[in-house]
Amino acid sequence: MTLLITGGASGIGAETARRAAERGYSIAINYRSRQRQAQALIGEITNRGAKAIAVPGDVAREADIARLFDTAEAALGPVTHLVNSAGIGGGDSRVEDFDAAVLAELFTVNTIGLMLCCREAVRRMSTRRGGKGGVIVNVSSMAGTIGGRPGKSHYAASKAAVDSFSMGFAKEVAREGIRVNAIRPGMILTEMTEPGLADETARADIESTIAMGRVGKAHEIADAILWLLSDEASLVSGTLLDVSGGGFVFGRR
Ligand SMILES: NC(=O)c1ccc[n+]([C@@H]2O[C@H](COP(=O)([O-])OP(=O)(O)OC[C@H]3O[C@@H](n4cnc5c(N)ncnc54)[C@H](OP(=O)(O)O)[C@@H]3O)[C@@H](O)[C@H]2O)c1
Repeated sequence: MTLLITGGASGIGAETARRAAERGYSIAINYRSRQRQAQALIGEITNRGAKAIAVPGDVAREADIARLFDTAEAALGPVTHLVNSAGIGGGDSRVEDFDAAVLAELFTVNTIGLMLCCREAVRRMSTRRGGKGGVIVNVSSMAGTIGGRPGKSHYAASKAAVDSFSMGFAKEVAREGIRVNAIRPGMILTEMTEPGLADETARADIESTIAMGRVGKAHEIADAILWLLSDEASLVSGTLLDVSGGGFVFGRR
């Protein structure tokens, strides 16, 4: 089993890599700029006896994406499992202040990059094309279900597109040995959200809108991803799995 994780050097991707290593996957960890973090993670994983490599590449570049898969396959064997975790927040902006370049980058990474990673995966996994099948998990967001928190409508839209794409894609390849699901984390403490959550009042404000009253931890998302990747989820495809502490309860205070 070879697992490729985009954006795997930090946050949810890194935690998925750590836990996948315990389950016997060989892991290709893609990173864009976090070379040191990626190398440290590889060290951690290989020290525990699993196989892992770090693969640089920007999912916003089409040529990098094909190379990711080729490099992973050359080192670890055909990619059987893919987790698309690479993503960016796009900053905060009211619609009246939108910057076209920021929007283009946001959708190129969060949406189009993810879709092209799925394309590369299906080209290699599909039984229709001589592959042995596979499993894909796309990391979406609860933001897509509510239009995002204030200033995040663009980010929310980039993730809502991932949800819709994942459902359609899952149906397209369901008879070709490939399962596709999306996972929708709520607010999770990672490098992406740490700056916003560092302020205690802001964090309390956010936590008051979460049914369980707390933000999540990266491993709580990783565990759900690993279940979707596993044979325990053999009949699960085209699903959008919310892992959000019970969802949002806006207007409680
Ligand atoms: N944390 C949350 O509350 C939350 C909630 C819902 C959904 N999510 C989603 O979960 C996923 C993982 O985020 P995270 O919370 O774990 O934050 P994170 O630690 O910032 O992880 C995102 C990773 O994506 C990588 N990345 C960004 N652009 C890339 C590109 N063009 N090519 C390759 N890699 C790229 C980043 O590396 P570089 O910095 O090197 O580019 C980073 O390692 C994202 O898709 C995010 O939108 C997070």
